[in-house]
Amino acid sequence: MKEIVYLDAAASFLKPESVIETEADFLRNRYANAGRGVCARAAAVDDMVAAARCRVAEFINADAHQVVFTANATDGLNRIVSIISCQSGYSDMSTFAVSDLDHHSARLPWQELLRIGKIDKEHICELDSDFNIKIDSIPKTDILVVTAMSNVIGVPQDVASIVRVARKKNPNVITIVDATQYVVHKKIDVKKWDCDFLVFSGHKIGADTGVGVLYIRDPDKYWPDKFGGGMVMRVSDSELVLNKAPEKFEAGTLPLTQICGLARAVDELESHRPDLSLIKYAYDELSKISRVKILTERDAAVLSFVVDGMHPLDVGAMLGANNICVRVGNMCASWIHQKIGIDGSIRISVGPWNTMHDIDKFISELKKIVK
Ligand code: ALA
Repeated sequence: MKEIVYLDAAASFLKPESVIETEADFLRNRYANAGRGVCARAAAVDDMVAAARCRVAEFINADAHQVVFTANATDGLNRIVSIISCQSGYSDMSTFAVSDLDHHSARLPWQELLRIGKIDKEHICELDSDFNIKIDSIPKTDILVVTAMSNVIGVPQDVASIVRVARKKNPNVITIVDATQYVVHKKIDVKKWDCDFLVFSGHKIGADTGVGVLYIRDPDKYWPDKFGGGMVMRVSDSELVLNKAPEKFEAGTLPLTQICGLARAVDELESHRPDLSLIKYAYDELSKISRVKILTERDAAVLSFVVDGMHPLDVGAMLGANNICVRVGNMCASWIHQKIGIDGSIRISVGPWNTMHDIDKFISELKKIVK
């Protein structure tokens, strides 16, 4: 088989051997449902889920009861809308604020409320010339969505300051952080950020697909958005008593295998973060190709670019035909592309498996394509 150069960690991270082994061992030797059994094997799965939750909580500086397992970041971002509206109807919400850094999943659920008339107004926070959210453009708003790092631009935002300013303008603002791209590169501290909600996907940090994390700062304040097994303490025709958080937000059987792998992926990520000097090296080499226009900064976490006179999809397909895997298109982040004035771009992103040799191969294939 030909050697594959996988430069697409930001779309989905390759899985460390230890994550694969952990999941295989769980499936082969330890599998049972959680929260439903009394035998030793089921109790051990309960312990595994509890330990994984604690590990994730420690990873983002949360408490375990604030960590809810979801399917992925998109699921979390959509569920936040439901959780907030289950609590208060739509009566407390008249405005939301977003920025052009957002992924479709962060902004569209709120725009849908606008479309159906449940929310009155959208504010767009401005960006400066380095794609940082302008702190002085944060409006007085009921809901604020912050993308901690754009998947196209790769610059970390000053989330703590953004949240602080939003709270100054409206002490009741609900702040939502999409940390899906940030989490791979930098330590998250939800206490320091002081956000109400935060999400990320497991598959972007080396865990399996099908598991995500939803942090809720005040989980006891909210009523759940989904109902079913595992979240009910007592129910009769006259009463419904729910389990405490986080279980009340986890109706149905959890993605147990993926949760088991997620805890392992967190361990791996903390000991092997992606080496961003590879991005700097690629930046320096790409800068020498005259038809290439780089969209990102040298010290960004990803490198996005366009090739003069070529469609990004064609560049991606030609690289792909030579076993170089990159991401192309609008990357589910249409607004930032529109702001730059393009339809799409080509992006490389790295994981711990990448080497200088991978960058050399990518540059050499790209040079053949654009010559
Ligand atoms: N939104 C993901 C990306 O950036 C899939 O590639």
